[in-house]
Amino acid sequence: MTALLDPEVWRKRFPIVGETTYLVNHSLGAMPEGVYERLRGFAEQWATRGVRAWAEGWWDSPIDVGNVVGKIMNAPEGTVAMHQNVSIIQSIIGSSLDFSGPRNKVVYTDQNFPTNMYVWEGFKRFGARIVSVPGEADGLVPTERLLEAIDEETLIVPLSHVCFRNSYLQDAQAVCERAREVGALVLLDTYQSLGTVPVDVQALGVDMVCGGSVKWLCGGPGAGYLYVRPDVMAQLTPRITGWAGHAAPFAFELGEQRYAEGARRLLHGSPAVAAYVGALPGYETVLEVGVQAIRAWSVHLNEALRARLEDRGFGIFGPRDPSLRGGTLTVKLRPDEDGPAFVRALERQGILVDHRPEAGIRVSPHYYTREDELLAFAEALFELREKRTWTEHVQAAASY
Ligand SMILES: Cc1ncc(COP(=O)(O)O)c(C=O)c1O
Repeated sequence: MTALLDPEVWRKRFPIVGETTYLVNHSLGAMPEGVYERLRGFAEQWATRGVRAWAEGWWDSPIDVGNVVGKIMNAPEGTVAMHQNVSIIQSIIGSSLDFSGPRNKVVYTDQNFPTNMYVWEGFKRFGARIVSVPGEADGLVPTERLLEAIDEETLIVPLSHVCFRNSYLQDAQAVCERAREVGALVLLDTYQSLGTVPVDVQALGVDMVCGGSVKWLCGGPGAGYLYVRPDVMAQLTPRITGWAGHAAPFAFELGEQRYAEGARRLLHGSPAVAAYVGALPGYETVLEVGVQAIRAWSVHLNEALRARLEDRGFGIFGPRDPSLRGGTLTVKLRPDEDGPAFVRALERQGILVDHRPEAGIRVSPHYYTREDELLAFAEALFELREKRTWTEHVQAAASY
């Protein structure tokens, strides 16, 4: 067994972990100090190079930065393009599909992050049929149920790899295999997995992968990524498009889109350069630490936390088995307990976590988290329950 990582090595690079107990990485990962330098570099380039900056990296930034995040998922060079967020990525992919034939089903689960549902529901007006497989106890969707729903009429399976509420790690391998058998596409949303759970797009043989950088990648907002397998890429002709996706953007041709080759064909307008550049220190640090090491540390810490919480009478919402779980633990509260009040009370003590309705308190360590921080969180939670001091932090619904 390899030695576990040492969080002290990485903590120095994240200013906020010296100030708070930062356990909210499933929502917003801590900012690496290197972001200051990158964004300053971006501003310097703009200030001193002016319009020349486009040819000196800005125009190519969606693909160049995509190549860096692509390394974390073992994507070949040139197969990842950056976009603003997952919602626009799913819309672009949806706009590439033809729902007019009998193969028009969109299959996912009711545990998907809702933004994805809002996008796909919108394609019903173009003929999409939505099949949403319901979660059972704690929102867990049995893999067999999901596989049964993927049939010869399925066009695409846009699926969360790790579910945001219960941290359930879907069996992406089984889903990809089933989809391949019946000729359906898979668009795996790895927002809640990439950076804490190993993802290898080539081993999975997955068609498409997307996500954002706000959470486990510590890359901040505005830096979504889209991987598409090269053979699938060549067939995609998105209706959501623009000049950055054109084969010769600076020829300013008139008429219909003439798509570029490779990942560029999925672009639309001018790139959000600052957001992409600002995400690089997060990606580079994940590559430096190594996702296998991050996963081992995450499982080690979450198992210690789970044991302590269960000792203290708390239940876990979602999988107890760490091999079925992403990087987050969701702690169940009692029906009379107010989750947001617990979150506010913990924040007063410098402990940052969050709460999701019908699930519980979400808590997540990362590679800069120490074991004692998690155990302190468990004790603080226990004390709030025992002394009922969370009741001092209840706010009227209208003011929350
Ligand atoms: C699995 C998953 N997908 C997508 C999103 C967010 O989507 P967007 O990038 O459009 O804001 C989240 C955010 O919490 C998420 O957890």
